[in-house]
Amino acid sequence: MKTQVAIIGAGPSGLLLGQLLHNAGIDNIIVERQSPEYVLGRIRAGVLEQGMVDLLREADASQRMDREGLVHDGFELAFDGRCEHIDLKGLTGGKTVMVYGQTEVTRDLMEARQTSGATTLYSVPDVQLHEFKGEKPYLTFTLNGETVRLDCDHIAGCDGFHGVARKSIPQGVLTEFERVYPFGWLGVLADTPPVNDELIYANHERGFALCSMRSATRTRYYVQVGAEEQVEDWSDERFWEELKSRLPAEVAARLVTGPAIEKSIAPLRSFVVEPMQYGRLFLLGDAAHIVPPTGAKGLNLAASDVNTLFRILLKVYREGRHELLEKYSAICLRRIWKAERFSWWMTSVLHRFPDTDAFSQRMQQTELDYFVGSEAGRKTIAENYVGLPYEPIE
Ligand code: APR
Ligand code: PHB
Repeated sequence: MKTQVAIIGAGPSGLLLGQLLHNAGIDNIIVERQSPEYVLGRIRAGVLEQGMVDLLREADASQRMDREGLVHDGFELAFDGRCEHIDLKGLTGGKTVMVYGQTEVTRDLMEARQTSGATTLYSVPDVQLHEFKGEKPYLTFTLNGETVRLDCDHIAGCDGFHGVARKSIPQGVLTEFERVYPFGWLGVLADTPPVNDELIYANHERGFALCSMRSATRTRYYVQVGAEEQVEDWSDERFWEELKSRLPAEVAARLVTGPAIEKSIAPLRSFVVEPMQYGRLFLLGDAAHIVPPTGAKGLNLAASDVNTLFRILLKVYREGRHELLEKYSAICLRRIWKAERFSWWMTSVLHRFPDTDAFSQRMQQTELDYFVGSEAGRKTIAENYVGLPYEPIE
């Protein structure tokens, strides 16, 4: 088999890159270890920056999002018994975010790809990368019990944090930066009406809580839990009680509870690898970086990597601008580190840490009080939350 761009992984990164390239006439094949059902079973983030919304429109996979997605002009920060509104639209000169689940983004991209006739190979084990330091890279994998070879010009490693692409780069090339937080998020999906029109991020002495949603009838709520906690120990009743105890009283009083249709615990981690490329291999999304979910940046960073590689490849194939390939990692990393900083900051001011004592609790409250009490502070939060601009590829 032969293609121009071989893409490993059919998560949002791989599917979005594949669709943009395909629509631009650049041939690509996606190889994915799991089945489509498995990929769609994962419940993940739900807030899209304008840049990602625009890319989904460009990829012609936005019709349902434009119909069903919820445009949010702001969000609430709850701390010290009060709720403070962050007016994203007013503070950023009109920018907003779109609340639309990652699972739905993935489904829409899968359907667009199927309609367009581009090839995605699912349930493919044993993907290996070869000769990617040179100009004739290829993948091998097992398809219907046989070893298949896929020749290509470029390899896009869109295979997530546990994928094979990053691990295939020789030892000594990459530097890893990591922080593992001593807690996780317990998330519940429920068919209940949202407690608030906008998201609520809550700092509380019992720990962080987040009220989010997927639609007018489906909610996604989270509470911070210890790293050692097991989801089996959290009955629905215990979850709802804990959530209510961390929200301002008037919010807790109007919270509608119901049976959980999904419940899971996710660890929190900050991770970046430098550089994000080696020869003809490029890393995108979770394969290269992880953020704690507090800033809603994970999926959006994947989209900005896709934007960067897509625009570079367009110029490579259309204008012969091969030198741009060398700039991929540096362009991505400038934006990634700023999103890492914001996610780390949001995590630091909103969570309870094992060493959080009365003094640090007051410091967190004062940090939040200071930021929301100053126009500059509110603008800083807002411009990061809606997403910093994409760097042009010239
Ligand atoms: N071979 C083929 N496919 C693989 C391999 C492999 N060895 N290893 C992993 N994959 C697949 C996974 O099964 C998964 O479908 O790669 C895909 C990676 O998808 P994601 O983990 O969703 O990563 P990505 O597409 O970068 O999505 C961005 O950012 O913060 C997050 O929640 C956000 O998951 C989202 C991510
Ligand atoms: C979600 O809806 O799942 C969600 C929203 C905002 C976040 C994290 C997760 O910061």
